[in-house]
Amino acid sequence: MQKIIAANWKMYKTRKEAADCAAALVAGLGNVLPQRRQILVFAPFTAIAETSRAFAGVAGLEVGAQNFYPAREGAFTGEISSQMLHDVGADWLLVGHSERRHILHEDLGIVADKCAFALAEGFKLMLCVGETLAEREAGELGSVLERQLSSALAALSEEQRRTLPGRFAVAYEPVWAIGTGKVAGPAEVLDAHARVRSQLEGLLGADAAHIPLLYGGSVKPENAATLIGLDNVDGLLVGGASLEAQSFLQIISAGA
Ligand code: 13P
Repeated sequence: MQKIIAANWKMYKTRKEAADCAAALVAGLGNVLPQRRQILVFAPFTAIAETSRAFAGVAGLEVGAQNFYPAREGAFTGEISSQMLHDVGADWLLVGHSERRHILHEDLGIVADKCAFALAEGFKLMLCVGETLAEREAGELGSVLERQLSSALAALSEEQRRTLPGRFAVAYEPVWAIGTGKVAGPAEVLDAHARVRSQLEGLLGADAAHIPLLYGGSVKPENAATLIGLDNVDGLLVGGASLEAQSFLQIISAGA
């Protein structure tokens, strides 16, 4: 499976900063973009168009949005629809990120609605799952992952489930490792990813083998090669270290 290296720029970058960073990525990838890497940038809404323009015509680079409201259009003041994001160049939608679950209080029902809507609208979907430190310490890793995965897929039609390979990825991001500098160790990543894979098998059968599983949480150039080399790790989702083109380029080429 081609490994996916994804950047989540979160609430960083003006349009110019995004355009400059995206151009630096394109220039840098001239030398390093391996056939075995797909690059994805989840840009802030206001910078999606610039990022997409910078990537236009370059194979292996795609743009996504970090959030959307699951309706075509309507009286939803302040919200952005997936079609508006398609209009500015987003092909992927990120759903269930821990910052949206925990800071913006998105519950399992909202996450499920968004997953079904994103797929129905023809987007590629990346679903984030992961436990808090308290949940891990209480021995709830397995049940948290099970709850987040099964509820997110619950609203999908049979047809949507069948067409998940090629347009669905899961990012395991332990909440305690995000932005903290505490990366999950290889044993923890192996264990969590094996659990996600086996739960996906229960939900999707043989198709589960074709769903990329990404790890996210304090990924840096120094630990990227180890992480990407682990069993069941099909990619990385990178926050802080994706903001500088040079550091993201090092992560992209790590282990390739
Ligand atoms: P950091 O890489 O900054 O820990 O963020 C991870 C993340 O939340 C990516 O979605």
